[in-house]
Amino acid sequence: MTEILSNKDGEAENPNAVEQMKTGQARRKRLFSAVQPSGTLTLGNYIGAIRNWRMLLDEYDCIYALADLHTLTVRQNPADLRRNTYALAALYIASGIDPEKCVLFVQSHVSAHAELSWILNTITYPGELQRMTQFKDKSRSHADNVNMGLMDYPVLMASDILLYGADLVPVGADQKQHIEITRDLAIRFNGRYSDTFIVPEPYIAKSGAKIMSLQDPSKKMSKSDPNPAAFISMDDSRDTIIKKFRRAVTDSDTTVRYDEEHKPGVSNLLTIYSVITGKSIGEAEAEFCGKMYGEFKTAVGEAVADVVDPIREEKNRILKDKAYLDNVFKNGAESAGRMAKRTLSKVYKRVGLVQAMP
Ligand code: TRP
Repeated sequence: MTEILSNKDGEAENPNAVEQMKTGQARRKRLFSAVQPSGTLTLGNYIGAIRNWRMLLDEYDCIYALADLHTLTVRQNPADLRRNTYALAALYIASGIDPEKCVLFVQSHVSAHAELSWILNTITYPGELQRMTQFKDKSRSHADNVNMGLMDYPVLMASDILLYGADLVPVGADQKQHIEITRDLAIRFNGRYSDTFIVPEPYIAKSGAKIMSLQDPSKKMSKSDPNPAAFISMDDSRDTIIKKFRRAVTDSDTTVRYDEEHKPGVSNLLTIYSVITGKSIGEAEAEFCGKMYGEFKTAVGEAVADVVDPIREEKNRILKDKAYLDNVFKNGAESAGRMAKRTLSKVYKRVGLVQAMP
């Protein structure tokens, strides 16, 4: 996807390739991802998404967005949305997503996202949006508010990705369908006008361990669980974390052994322990061989608290410094805006819109 494409003016299409020609260096792959600032994050989100984003920083050119426009597709309290946006940025930075090492920005600060959505809407059919699994699920769970934005959600997501010429998009399995439609739209646009967009690939993390509820290990850990003992919030105190792990549902057996089918609770705790400490499942099993469940659960709780504690404190420290966060957002929007604008004006030109004078 990174070869140099050129149109009839001989203009290089791939902005990444242009850079490569200038510097003569093989460029790193570009990666785009985004997360919705829609409230408390859980240990599951940390393990599944935040940690991954951090690990990818060293290997790829990363562009990370806080997808606040997407958040509006379900009803939001405006004050909460604003607070959640700052809190999420602070949490990500506290977790090691260094804004000096990537482009970190707020989606609504770069108007090209909404603008490209309009253009892409003109090549998208209602049928393909109506059959998206997430649209169907959310239409059910928000039956009183099935709005056009909810349906158009994947088109905005396609705009996010295509504006930056991203090669890879790290997402959870639930978003794979949205990457598929992004690819379809890119290919459709390229075919109808001329090669413009890089067709991105989904990047489903290898270490994408699925973290289950502490109270019902057949369900995913979720912040919307009515029972707060079922999930670890990234805002939970050390005591709360350890208490929740001590209360975690296991089984009536006594051996600490990984067996998803017969021992889902213990297996979930072993997964968490393994990801958090970097030890293998086998090493973790050996460590707790012959030990009681109580001791095992406390050890998992302490290991998790050791990771979450400093992140929570750092997050709260950063959150007090609004000026710093506003400055991160400003720099991020400047870098992202520059790239996005280049793509958008190319798209406008391709479809036949008269170029506005600068
Ligand atoms: N829809 C994604 C989610 O909820 C968030 C998102 C918005 C996103 N735009 C994106 C993810 C672009 C990847 C690429 O998880």
